[in-house]
Amino acid sequence: MKIQGQAYRTIWLAQDGWRVCVIDQTRLPFRFETVTLSSTEAAAEAIRVMVVRGAPLIGATAAYGVALAMRVEPSDAALEAALAMLGGTRPTAVNLHWALGRMRERLAGLAPEDRSAAAYAEAAAICDEDVALCRAIGEHGLEVIRDVAAQRPAGKAVNILTHCNAGWLATVDWGTALAPIYLAHDAGIPVHVWVDETRPRNQGAALTAFELGAHGVPHTVIADNAGGHLMQQGQVDMVIVGTDRTTATGDVANKIGTYLKALAAHDNGVPFYVALPSPTIDWSLSDGLRDIPIEERSAREVTHLSGVGEDGEVRSFRLLAPGSNAANPAFDVTPARLVTGLITERGVTEASADGLARLFPERAAGAAD
Ligand code: MRU
Repeated sequence: MKIQGQAYRTIWLAQDGWRVCVIDQTRLPFRFETVTLSSTEAAAEAIRVMVVRGAPLIGATAAYGVALAMRVEPSDAALEAALAMLGGTRPTAVNLHWALGRMRERLAGLAPEDRSAAAYAEAAAICDEDVALCRAIGEHGLEVIRDVAAQRPAGKAVNILTHCNAGWLATVDWGTALAPIYLAHDAGIPVHVWVDETRPRNQGAALTAFELGAHGVPHTVIADNAGGHLMQQGQVDMVIVGTDRTTATGDVANKIGTYLKALAAHDNGVPFYVALPSPTIDWSLSDGLRDIPIEERSAREVTHLSGVGEDGEVRSFRLLAPGSNAANPAFDVTPARLVTGLITERGVTEASADGLARLFPERAAGAAD
């Protein structure tokens, strides 16, 4: 996608061919800055503090984190240490473990002297594949939006609500939930996006609104609590969100608050779609509420907000009286029964074991029942 006319992916190699560049998402939308990662530790820290975030981009960064380790010391011990360090950064997004598993599979059987080049090539392949998967999700999701648009009065925008950021910043390019929206906009289908601000870290207000604005997609940021009211008023035609881990049975973990939007959508007959590339499916799990690990993040993300002052300086502000406790579960699980459809790179399917098995028969065989 383009920022001020220049095409960017969210992760790329520096001119030297080995260091890894990313966009610092903790600075957006106030500053567009890049960070250069030169060690596995730096890659792990970038994931942990959310310089990079979003399930697919976490996986891609972890893959390059392994490559950075192999460049320094391509031994078995160093490979296992890198996998463990990166694997411990964020618990919910399964793309992290998928990417690390793929790196181990590719590298473990190689002679140490071949590992560095192979690791960089595999990380690059993971990135390129992510772009292709997201583009395909966009094309399938475009048809869903086209169908909804056909039911609207001619020329009336399709109002789409989204939560958190599942756009190009959360992936290598295009995004998952936002890819269909970009393609619909580019195809001339009038769309308007309700952007949940997504407390506590405000990925909607800070990232999704920034992305949509940069692409010229009409959007309005709303407080997280506004979505149900807008649905009751008939102002939401559909919801599209991303996911960090989806079970083999179609339960969906996504940013905290997604479940409440799914409940409100269900109550109001608003279609609720989840867009995901197949590396986000955890084929080993059958019960999302029981099995998906939910990340607990620092209470400071709830007690404090950051924003830009009149003087242009970015500052952090405390919201709570000193002494009040805060809790910060970062994800929740939306049961499959509340999901209208899963938009994947192979097409749109019902959120169920059968639906996923129809699209991914080779993966579903042997998956949890
Ligand atoms: O905590 P984050 O910002 O990494 O959470 C991101 C999300 O919840 C996204 O919706 C999800 O990763 C889907 S990404 C295409």
